[in-house]
Amino acid sequence: MTAPHMSPEQFRELGRRMIDWIADYWERSGSFPVLSQVKPGEVKHALPAEAPSQGLPDWSPVFEDLERIILPGITHWQSPTFFGYFPANASGPGVLGELLSAGLGVQGMLWATSPACTELEERVMDWLVDALGLPRTWRSDAGGAGVIQGTASEAALVALVAARQRARRAGWNEEAPLIVYASHQAHSSIEKAAMVAGISRGAGDRERVRLAPVNADTSVNAAALERMIADDVLAGRWPCMVCATLGTTGTLGFDSIADVALAIRRAGAQAWLHVDAAHAGAACVCPEFRWMLDGADAADSFCFNPHKWLLTNFDCDCFWVREKQRLVDALSITPEYLRTVAADAGLVTDFRDLQVPLGRRFRALKLWFVIRHYGLEGLQAHIREHVRLAALLEDLIRADPRFELVGTRRLNLVCFRLRGGAEADEATRRLLERVNARGRVFVTHTVFEHEGAPRYVIRMAVGSPQTREGHVRAAWAEIQSQAG
Ligand SMILES: Cc1ncc(COP(=O)(O)O)c(C=O)c1O
Repeated sequence: MTAPHMSPEQFRELGRRMIDWIADYWERSGSFPVLSQVKPGEVKHALPAEAPSQGLPDWSPVFEDLERIILPGITHWQSPTFFGYFPANASGPGVLGELLSAGLGVQGMLWATSPACTELEERVMDWLVDALGLPRTWRSDAGGAGVIQGTASEAALVALVAARQRARRAGWNEEAPLIVYASHQAHSSIEKAAMVAGISRGAGDRERVRLAPVNADTSVNAAALERMIADDVLAGRWPCMVCATLGTTGTLGFDSIADVALAIRRAGAQAWLHVDAAHAGAACVCPEFRWMLDGADAADSFCFNPHKWLLTNFDCDCFWVREKQRLVDALSITPEYLRTVAADAGLVTDFRDLQVPLGRRFRALKLWFVIRHYGLEGLQAHIREHVRLAALLEDLIRADPRFELVGTRRLNLVCFRLRGGAEADEATRRLLERVNARGRVFVTHTVFEHEGAPRYVIRMAVGSPQTREGHVRAAWAEIQSQAG
């Protein structure tokens, strides 16, 4: 039998149909229960237990199964009333870039395996240095490097192995334990990076990953951090990496990069300073939100996720290092079959040297399309509208005496709970469950130290490109209606 490859005509026809399907989906994404209502195993059992032995002459059953099996099992991240976690924006230009990347089928591991894949990425990452107001020394023409990683978690891992290699070069005695630091509000990906790199011995190993306390505004307590680092230096351990978070996952708290850098210096350590701005970094396209970058010159690496709040569908994490050579030193290995004349001559960057895997997709295309389609002014408008809507939501919550706001709202995340002591925790939890079960709105929660006790808190992140003021007002009315 010959393989039934899809003909160009069939691809054109089905491609049009699939694009139509996606466009229709976006138009009706607000009409589904936001949180998928399926039971565990329901999707799997609707699918045959064995792969089909015969291919499909006609794709109609695929489109039917999308409606019948897949859509009910989708939590609608693009719905205008999705307010959970942090957003995962998709957009027309981003999706077209993704499609083109798949269509070109490029493997961008070396410059030579598709020069456009490398050079477009270098250019777009340099654009973003300026567009976000990051230190210009991070540009590829100034000794720094920007490279797209899959996720902020991978960026943290890459930063950590570069930090460890720099420690080696600086005379770290391999007997001395390496230590990683962050605040206890930092994302678990920092601790996971330490686990994967073999620095910590498992989740919760507080001897190797130290989590500093936070101030009332959830920024890291820099004095406590400094003491932790200084104690380790004194005891002969090696502070390897400190992570400052811009926009913590629970409540969008901001560590001061300048204070963290000072804490490292004053403790007498040479630790690598990584900045995790996974969600909030996107807001730096607006000059008025660049306060969070104060002190960024002192950072060794920085990342943010356009796949969260900058309209570029998953996966796309922008990662910069101040000194490109530090990454290359930690990650480059060149077997004979990967040698090229251009790389040997030092004329080009091979991005395989700046990441864990060898192969890489052409992710810069989607970022390029997004930036070209919206322009920087369009991206600013996108961010500003969500911040405006979050401020509106904050006002609505403040006006209802049954509720209290928790923490300080910055940008697009609003945290609140039913007023009261410990009993209000349970009532707030039940409220969240009722709201999510009804399906009109989706919100998530965190536990947050509030007025001296850990409290159950509802988080609402305004982040869908389709969210308008009416959706925010309707979502709040829905929550009020369930509050009893
Ligand atoms: C502050 C922060 N860092 C890191 C991450 C992990 O992101 P990723 O899924 O890109 O690894 C998140 C996810 O929400 C986050 O909020």
